[in-house]
Amino acid sequence: MSISGTATADESTVAGHYDALDRFYREIWGEHVHHGLWSTGRESPAQATRAMIDLVAEAARLPPQARVIDVGCGYGGTSRVLAAEHGCDVTGFTLSAAQAAWARAQGGTPRFEVRSWLENELPDGEADAVVAIESLSHMVDKPLAFSQAARVLKAGGRFVLVDWFASEAPNAAERRLLLAPIAREGRLPTLCSVSEYERMLGRAGFRVERTQDFRPLAPHRTWGIVARRLARRLATDAQARRFLLGPENPDRAFALSLARIPLALRTGTLRLVMIAAERS
Ligand SMILES: C[S@@+](CC[C@H](N)C(=O)[O-])C[C@H]1O[C@@H](n2cnc3c(N)ncnc32)[C@H](O)[C@@H]1O
Repeated sequence: MSISGTATADESTVAGHYDALDRFYREIWGEHVHHGLWSTGRESPAQATRAMIDLVAEAARLPPQARVIDVGCGYGGTSRVLAAEHGCDVTGFTLSAAQAAWARAQGGTPRFEVRSWLENELPDGEADAVVAIESLSHMVDKPLAFSQAARVLKAGGRFVLVDWFASEAPNAAERRLLLAPIAREGRLPTLCSVSEYERMLGRAGFRVERTQDFRPLAPHRTWGIVARRLARRLATDAQARRFLLGPENPDRAFALSLARIPLALRTGTLRLVMIAAERS
């Protein structure tokens, strides 16, 4: 059952969130705005972040010189890895002009567009793979996001997504205290369950090949790293303190999620899951 975040999490609100917090994301998260994964527990934050990209690339089974679309590309970190290390021809889409400007300034071959994935205007049937790391939950129309992926892919092309999900049957307290505020503060119009995505993918013309719940890889550890970096920043930078915690910042409530999200991930109320599907 999906959780409703907020009626105001439309595209301009999501774009405004990432544009307004551009400096915060770059300084605290770096070029990858997604969770890390720890299989030994000894990985550095950079290695843990990289582990997610490697799993996505493996699940995408990229052919040589693959044409890849990075949906919700953020600062283009994944796009650059796929281009530089897998020889892919990559186009990334983000709603945030600040993210695209920074991504373009890094050079390399990927192209970055400030445009909604829901209105991407790519040609039909040319992509080998579509990847979407922690971006689809921001989108108001999930079926349209999936049908766009099906439209731009070649037959047999692959769609690999990683996203935030609600557990299949959260109780009232989990919904009220964890999932609804996480969706609201994170600008997620709806937080779906894995089975809802699997059904939508089927309807869009995909065959789901692999569903991997990342809970055993301790993604909640990411939030400890973010909280420590943020605390350091707030302790040493008065301007950052005024900006992030000041009443004029509509996104300051997101700071509360720093406690909620890891708790929800640890208990399995919130799930971070990769789904790999083939376009039939
Ligand atoms: C949490 S960030 C993830 C960024 C990137 N995938 C990464 O892993 O670093 C979410 C991204 O989704 C993008 N996004 C959200 N809704 C979108 C839409 N409708 N069209 C294109 N991008 C969208 C945001 O602009 C942002 O870049």
